[in-house]
Amino acid sequence: MNKKAILLAGGAGTRLYPLTKIVCKQLLPVYDKPMICYPLATLMLGGLREILIISTPKDLPMLEDYLGDGSQLGIRIEYAAQPKPEGIAQAFLIGAKFIDGAGASLILGDNIFYGKLDFYRAALAVERGACIFGYQVRDPERYGVVEFGRDGRAISLEEKPAKPKSHFAVPGLYVYDERVTEFSRMLKPSARGELEITDLNRMYLDRNELHVKLLSRGMAWLDTGTQASLLDAGNYIATIEHRQGLKIACLEEVALRVGFIGELELERIIDRLPKGEYREYLRVVCDEGPRSVAPEPEV
Ligand code: DAU
Repeated sequence: MNKKAILLAGGAGTRLYPLTKIVCKQLLPVYDKPMICYPLATLMLGGLREILIISTPKDLPMLEDYLGDGSQLGIRIEYAAQPKPEGIAQAFLIGAKFIDGAGASLILGDNIFYGKLDFYRAALAVERGACIFGYQVRDPERYGVVEFGRDGRAISLEEKPAKPKSHFAVPGLYVYDERVTEFSRMLKPSARGELEITDLNRMYLDRNELHVKLLSRGMAWLDTGTQASLLDAGNYIATIEHRQGLKIACLEEVALRVGFIGELELERIIDRLPKGEYREYLRVVCDEGPRSVAPEPEV
């Protein structure tokens, strides 16, 4: 199984200015917690414990201050800098040493998934090739777009096409085999000067080794690229959390439920937390034990 993951949390943050003048986008709140918790929880729920966070030299210290080396969550977090936003696929060049010839997942720090994560676990189990996903959206021109042939196989991939060939956007969660670094080294910058993730995916597609799985409409894939979509994402999380009395992407809870930490470790974390709603929530989680609610907790 593919055990390592890169969480890409850099970028210029221009679209969300002035929100991003002081704090990077991935630390902005999505309702009651920083944005980065959501993609990190997705990786943890996939069972991954070795994670490299890539961000700008300016923002790395703040991210590191927040998440540390991950040991409190039973995971291992390393950090690396991307001095300039020269493309999503550059993550594999920056992370080459971390990946160390193995396969890896990549998740974008501004992508939020909520629902059953079976699709991701199934992708992690695929031995050869790359796995990406398709999700129906109203405005595919804002994303990477995948087109399917009559037999349901992917036949084309385009990055932000003016005339999309389908309504299926490619979310920012990708799983690659051990050739990913080698393929990334072959990429040339696009017209906008970036190493495009869509070009990397096309290399697998051209070799007939790209698996594309459609996410069911019951899954929520939210994007936080604009002020409006950031607010929508926050409202969505608030709505579900209020309805269920459960938190989405509460990292300490996730760590307990996937068995990365035990109740004793959670007790220690709670003791150090400031008094407030978050601490009270974890208190309940801890008292009720890891299996108290929903048999299959998901983010
Ligand atoms: O959200 C899914 C989409 O993400 C995909 O459908 C597209 O194929 C993919 O290109 C990407 O599109 P975006 O327009 O969202 O890319 P953006 O440049 O906004 O980058 C996405 C995140 O990655 C953003 O939070 C910043 C970070 N990033 C981006 C680049 C280009 C980096 O950390 N470094 C980079 O060099």
